[in-house]
Amino acid sequence: MKSLLVTGGAGFIGANFVQYWLNHYPYHKLVVLDALTYAGNLANLEAVKDHPNLTFVHGNILNTELVKELMQHHQTDTVVHFAAESHVDRSITGPDAFLETNIMGTHSLLKAAKQIWLDSGVDDHRFHHVSTDEVYGTLAENDPPFTEATAYAPNSPYAASKASSDHLVRAYQETYGLKTTISNCSNNYGSYHFPEKLIPLVITNILADKALPIYGDGKQVRDWLYVEDHARGIELVLSKGKIGENYNIGGHNEWHNIDIVKLICQLMNEAFATEPELAQRFPDALSVAKGSAESLITFVKDRPGHDRRYAIDAAKSRCELGYEPAESFETGIRKTLQWYLNNEEWWRSVMDGSYQGWVSQQYHA
Ligand code: NAD
Ligand code: DAU
Repeated sequence: MKSLLVTGGAGFIGANFVQYWLNHYPYHKLVVLDALTYAGNLANLEAVKDHPNLTFVHGNILNTELVKELMQHHQTDTVVHFAAESHVDRSITGPDAFLETNIMGTHSLLKAAKQIWLDSGVDDHRFHHVSTDEVYGTLAENDPPFTEATAYAPNSPYAASKASSDHLVRAYQETYGLKTTISNCSNNYGSYHFPEKLIPLVITNILADKALPIYGDGKQVRDWLYVEDHARGIELVLSKGKIGENYNIGGHNEWHNIDIVKLICQLMNEAFATEPELAQRFPDALSVAKGSAESLITFVKDRPGHDRRYAIDAAKSRCELGYEPAESFETGIRKTLQWYLNNEEWWRSVMDGSYQGWVSQQYHA
């Protein structure tokens, strides 16, 4: 039986990963360590809270002693490290938390893993670090997509903190022989995505009849991947990835921001036209009920240092791991809209912080 420590498992991607993993490997032991910041919520794990092999620990990755205690107690052989401050806009207004969690927090985990595994001769172990394509910087319109050989050139404090953490992971592999892998993934979308990020923000603002803010000219490009495909990519890196390697994971799915916002408006208009009860359930949603959600689109001041384009070349993951995204954007975006329409209570409670949580397996250390 494998025993995984999953950091940040109450956040967007972490929670999707936890659900994916328990569905596929119900006999594995899974310990989630999460500080429950504004972005982490036990509501994201509600569906699996009674799983006998899941333990939730409310704690901070900066607490090296706690991490060591958990790894020792649960005989952890695999760390999957999602915990991070993840929102670029917040890193511009308040970079300190990003340096603390993303750099010092990652280092705290690496120190714990070194002591628990290497210093005790535990050979069968893996430290997987979840990183981002933002470490590579930005692309011009006709540049080839990022490969794993693209030089790091982070442009935001968030990206710089993730790049630093990647370098630390690499250094622990080269210097101490810790068995590490890194995945650099493009923009995820799907269920449990906190409504500060573009896609859930647009959906929830349409339902509140609020402006849909488009930074700059809206012609920036992002490469969108359905979140479950990210979980599958990490699964493949864990099972087939080579120690010390980075793997790009992406969706072959580049969209201009403005086009994705227009698409969401169109799909929401269609949903309201075909399901008249939506107008009753969401009485504030006046524009979309009239079939004109796009009237809410508002161009606003650009994000400072805004990266123009991200695009992932995932050939290495395809060739070495057999990785291909399974979900098409056409189906993934519809599923996502439907999820937000069906889960109003979730997004309202995570936005206003009113979710009460469950405590049955919570262990405060
Ligand atoms: P998120 O902000 O939704 O979740 C982060 C989680 O980490 C939250 O549950 C939070 O409570 C927890 N956390 C934060 N600080 C912590 C600390 N000090 N100790 C313990 N837990 C802490 O983030 P996400 O979008 O799910 O991203 C997860 C990881 O994937 C991050 O490392 C991010 O850099 C990376 N990533 C994200 C995307 C994306 O599109 N969202 C794409 C590529 C890579
Ligand atoms: O590429 C991977 C990265 O994707 C992850 O590492 C980050 O954790 C994740 O947050 C995401 O970063 P982005 O900055 O690309 O995501 P965000 O949803 O904030 O913005 C997507 C694009 O939309 C970006 O070009 C900025 C733009 N945008 C965003 C918001 C919130 C707007 O135009 N208006 C907005 O209100």
